Amino acid sequence: MNDLFQNRKLHGTHLGDILLDWFARHQRDLPWRRTYTPYHVWISEIMLQQTQMDRGVQYFQRWIQHFPDIRSMALASEDEILKHWEGLGYYSRARNLHRAAQILCHDNNCELPREIQQLLRLPGIGPYTARAIASIAFEQDVCVVDANVERLVSRIFNLKNPVKSRQTQLQINALCEEILPPGRARAFNQAAMEFGSLVCVPRKPACGSCPVAGLCEARLLGVEEERPVGAKPVQPIYLSMSTGVLIHEGRILVQKRQPDDVWANLWEFPGGLVEEGETPAQAVIREFMEETRLRVVAPEPIALFKHAYTRYRVTLNAFFVQLCSDPTDIVLHAAQEYRWSSWKELQALAFPAGHRKLIAHLNDDPRFQARVHP
Ligand code: ADE
Repeated sequence: MNDLFQNRKLHGTHLGDILLDWFARHQRDLPWRRTYTPYHVWISEIMLQQTQMDRGVQYFQRWIQHFPDIRSMALASEDEILKHWEGLGYYSRARNLHRAAQILCHDNNCELPREIQQLLRLPGIGPYTARAIASIAFEQDVCVVDANVERLVSRIFNLKNPVKSRQTQLQINALCEEILPPGRARAFNQAAMEFGSLVCVPRKPACGSCPVAGLCEARLLGVEEERPVGAKPVQPIYLSMSTGVLIHEGRILVQKRQPDDVWANLWEFPGGLVEEGETPAQAVIREFMEETRLRVVAPEPIALFKHAYTRYRVTLNAFFVQLCSDPTDIVLHAAQEYRWSSWKELQALAFPAGHRKLIAHLNDDPRFQARVHP
């Protein structure tokens, strides 16, 4: 065994205990930590991907109230699942949860398996989630590496290669497994993630009060803010889109997106991209014709709504439009279903972020409320 490995081994054993001690004193009181029910751990892990903790907890509590176990989730309609996920984004996660629940009820008595290889067969469960469930719910000795753990380990061991490279990922995993005190994976993995998100934060980490600072190579060299070494930031893509609110006899036209498209199975007002050489008002008229075969005229601006979606930055130009065709002449070209919906019915459907902002605006728009049925 060379000196470096020997150092790290000692270093490692000690580090695990420090993190466990910190967690025992500072862990947050989170609802899934009361019982560690496997179903709760699964839902929390899926929700916390790309979501802040406070928001994750709110959604988790609402979800568990509505779907108290795997069976209730399996029996729900997809519209109901999407409505309860609405606002969290990345809707494929909700659809995968639903499908996985149905598979579990069909094959495994509505229970999650404890083995990583079996967990990996379920839709929406990749290596991160499988390891999180195996360790946090079933107390198996495997490490979980999220962005917080990557940062923590990159700093303590001063890893200089890009953190997302395969070699560095393997190295982080191996170091984690060395640090993990046997039999303590449930607490250790959560400790490492929580420590990374509360103490060893990306900007201005709290090294002054950090119990690991004396062992942290990056801190000792003063390069903690330069770790982890990141990949190049991706450039955002700016898009301009138009959408139209068409009201006929007090009801609003909405359509359900195709199952194989972005925002699959969510509802929307018809619309689409503003093309080159076209104004947003022209785009909404063209999009209505292309998507529904309805002729609409007289676009009246409502407002602009901005939202970000992965690397896209979208400006949504929303208009009221007037119908100039027979309302029964709809032929769908971009959606699987349409409805002339009352305002109340519309509230029960799940919409993508930009359209939700538009709906919130319509709630307070007297022009809209005067034209629509409650
Ligand atoms: N991030 C994702 N899962 C977590 C957990 N169980 N504890 C703390 N942070 C987390």
